Amino acid sequence: MITDDPRAAAAALLDGALVILPTETVYGLAGRADDPAAVARIYAVKGRPSQHPVIVHVADPRLDPSAPGSWVREVPDYARRLADACWPGPLTLVLPRSARATDDVTGGQDTVAIRVPAHPLALVVLRAMDEIDPAGAPHGVAAPSANRFGHVSPTMLAHALTDLGGLLSESDLAIDGGACEVGVESTIVDCTGPQPRVLRPGGVGVADIERITGLEALDATASGIRVPGALPSHYAPQARIALAADGDALTAYVDAAVEGGTDVERIGVIAMSGAPTPDGAQRLLAPETVDAYARGLYDALRRADAAGIAFIVAVPPDPDGEGVSEAIADRLRRASAPR
Ligand code: TXA
Ligand code: MG
Repeated sequence: MITDDPRAAAAALLDGALVILPTETVYGLAGRADDPAAVARIYAVKGRPSQHPVIVHVADPRLDPSAPGSWVREVPDYARRLADACWPGPLTLVLPRSARATDDVTGGQDTVAIRVPAHPLALVVLRAMDEIDPAGAPHGVAAPSANRFGHVSPTMLAHALTDLGGLLSESDLAIDGGACEVGVESTIVDCTGPQPRVLRPGGVGVADIERITGLEALDATASGIRVPGALPSHYAPQARIALAADGDALTAYVDAAVEGGTDVERIGVIAMSGAPTPDGAQRLLAPETVDAYARGLYDALRRADAAGIAFIVAVPPDPDGEGVSEAIADRLRRASAPR
């Protein structure tokens, strides 16, 4: 089931099979976006409620609505600038859909979410689909994160196989692309209005979006049920999570938990390397940079569960709009939300 042959993966996708595919953000569970049966299987395998739209991944960053087979019917100027500046990369654009983007991928909305992933293997697979079947090009694959619904996204193949391995069938494949370089999901920007609306912070910082477009980016992260990642409780490990503002608050949380009867060895700490690890607690992550924080976060949450950690105290980096800081703060907030 694991293959290192991108052409075999492309052929399998064209035949309607599913492929666990590495991207630079997180691993995706990919299926042909114009094959309703493949998309339906993605939902079934993930345990994801239907009617939630999925992202269509394509190889070609030129969004030409007049090209035959285009997935979009209209591209505002600022969206074009974002695509030119960020693709391939961790940015998803929500645009008016073409007839090719059916209700199966859009959840019945008049928009489609589209992105060009930067992982070399993902690009090779997508391009191989177009080479093997040029008549159907440009091919797109629907690829939500390759985790069970509500769980932490996979940043290594082993994570994805833990969640989904037993649910795939004989003809499905998985590609090992190593640890994902970004580690949090793509930034989703709604480009259907006069200015960009950020539906989910991610690998591209909000400040970058404003610099590239010259427009103010509206915060639409609380805009509603269409984005399951926007549910208050999502990206959640089993352990309870508390967010601390700094090292002192972190230590206070740990002390209070120990006083409350939690075994200190079952307390985990996630914070930049400068923050303290209270005596006896388990340090799950101590990154030197914000990028390394994003890269290691989901693995740390999964390791916490595997180690039987009951309580995690995390100090998020300052969400200053730059790079992945906002995405880390967002995911930790959701992981710590009451369930
Ligand atoms: O980094 C990523 O984006 C990863 C990798 C695999 O590409 N994919 C990913 O997909 O995170 P998923 O399905 O876990 O999250 C995609 C989000 C969902 O919350 C979905 O509701 C939203 O994108 N979405 C998709 N189409 C949309 C649309 N037309 N309008 C608004 N939101 C949309
Ligand atoms: Mg997801």
